[in-house]
Amino acid sequence: MKGKLLVLHGPNLNRLGKREPEVYGKQTLAEINAEIEKFLQQEQYQMQNYQSNIEGELIEQIHNAEGEYDGIVFNPGAFTHYSIALRDAISSVTVPVIEVHLSNIYNREEFRHHSVLSAVCVGQITGFGAHSYILGCIGLIQYLQQKCKL
Ligand code: DQA
Repeated sequence: MKGKLLVLHGPNLNRLGKREPEVYGKQTLAEINAEIEKFLQQEQYQMQNYQSNIEGELIEQIHNAEGEYDGIVFNPGAFTHYSIALRDAISSVTVPVIEVHLSNIYNREEFRHHSVLSAVCVGQITGFGAHSYILGCIGLIQYLQQKCKL
């Protein structure tokens, strides 16, 4: 194994499949997690996933990722747009975080156009449906491998 990634899902993402399928697709979170895991196995990365509707639990997952994971692929849900506490949590660890969104947050309501988290993340992937997570993993793996070479 080359490393270990944490895939973190924020509020309401446990409703995927039922929740606004025209915006977020028909796949359930379990199906999406299975796809990510399959992809990461091919890439020889171990994966752990975690979903919470509670900001504090997500913060603790980020804190506990230090020394435990090589990187985090994070869909922060609506917390993206206002959680300074999650931003500070990301800044408090050295683990690189990639922000991902199923929908394109920039072609939706104006309040979704701003992410308070992206400035402290390695990058952001938005608008590719469930594939955003896979693209996030690709970006993170590339980032980790480049960092190793430096
Ligand atoms: C989301 C976009 C957010 O604006 C929204 O609040 C979500 C899901 C996405 O994956 O497209 O819950 O993060």
